[in-house]
Amino acid sequence: MRKSLPIILLVFGVSLFFTGAVLYAQEGEAREQVVQGLFATLPDVAPVPENNPMTPEKIELGKMLYFEPRLSASGVISCHTCHNLSLGGTDRLPSSLGHEFLTGGRNAPTVLNAAFFNLQFWDGRATGLEEQAQGPIQAGVEMAMPADLAVERIAGIEGYLPYFEAAFPGEENPITFENIARAIASFERTLITPNDGLDRYLRGDESALSDDAKRGMEIVVQVGCVACHNGPMLSTGTLMPFTHGEDLGLATVTGEESDEYFFRVATWRNVSLTAPYFHDGSAETLEDAVRIMGSVQLNRELTDEEVFYILAFLESLVGDQPEVTIPVLPAG
Ligand code: HEC
Ligand code: HEC
Repeated sequence: MRKSLPIILLVFGVSLFFTGAVLYAQEGEAREQVVQGLFATLPDVAPVPENNPMTPEKIELGKMLYFEPRLSASGVISCHTCHNLSLGGTDRLPSSLGHEFLTGGRNAPTVLNAAFFNLQFWDGRATGLEEQAQGPIQAGVEMAMPADLAVERIAGIEGYLPYFEAAFPGEENPITFENIARAIASFERTLITPNDGLDRYLRGDESALSDDAKRGMEIVVQVGCVACHNGPMLSTGTLMPFTHGEDLGLATVTGEESDEYFFRVATWRNVSLTAPYFHDGSAETLEDAVRIMGSVQLNRELTDEEVFYILAFLESLVGDQPEVTIPVLPAG
């Protein structure tokens, strides 16, 4: 007996070692798949359209206009009012308050990394940041400023002309509505947040994600969130059905029944900074949003344990925030 004990222990130990090795291999393989196929690092630079090259002068002007409240009818609302860079590029309100405290009923999505989306807005109704930026200036519920008045207002501020001339060299009359939008779009392309936990993990730093976050990463693969939340933005960037609340999504633009409840898949990058959630801001916390996604999109009641790990993963997705110095705007 005594003689056989070490052998038994040895056999037991060896089998434990092998079981562990097999488990480890599986885990490693599962993670490898995650790394290879589903997620990708956020690029360090945003794609730039050919007809609006980025220059330091244009970015500087765009930043000024982004912070410029005189682009609104009331003179007090700027892009930054609703897309506050101290608040993850949002206003942290269920739905934004715009001109005369009107609300458009929709939550302000983050401007951080918006440059990586082709379709803009919750319902994807605009394409590209240049087209997008023209919307809120004119929207009655946002800045309520007709295009020609916006141009008149900016042209009336003497100090702006040199900035427009530097940003759009050679143009005879550079202060136009299109150029205002182009400059703002160029600035927005600098608002990107690389290097979060997932990015560093994907580049080979095993310690960049906690064990809880790694478990969460496996769960979002297993339960199927990644059908829609994948790629560098952790979003396909396309419209998917999400039947939740009153808002009809794309159908509010097209009037087509088949477009009802289609919304663009939201990014997970920086998502823990941007409560409340969904197009109508109806989910107060990230936990609520995760549970609702499980039941509405996957017909699955996530367990408390699953939610705990998913949250750990989502919370690891806060990247390096852009460092933006507040611009000094030209006086009246
Ligand atoms: C009154 C608040 C408010 C103001 C001011 C405002 N926005 Fe928005 N912004 C919103 C809301 C709400 C949405 C979502 C609207 C929708 O999807 O229908 C939005 C959407 C966006 C998006 C789309 C992001 C995405 O992921 O699809 C961008 C980019 C953006 N705004 C930039 C700007 C810029 C640039 C300005 C200034 C010219 C501006 N916003 C002014 C509230 C505001
Ligand atoms: C069928 C596609 C699909 C699947 C599967 C899916 N989502 Fe989503 N997700 C979306 C869409 C579309 C939105 C935007 C919802 C809206 O417009 O309000 C979204 C939004 C979210 C948001 C809110 C982000 C924000 O800024 O408001 C979170 C968090 C989220 N999803 C997490 C998950 C999790 C976790 C899972 C898996 C349990 C999951 N999603 C599965 C399509 C999907």
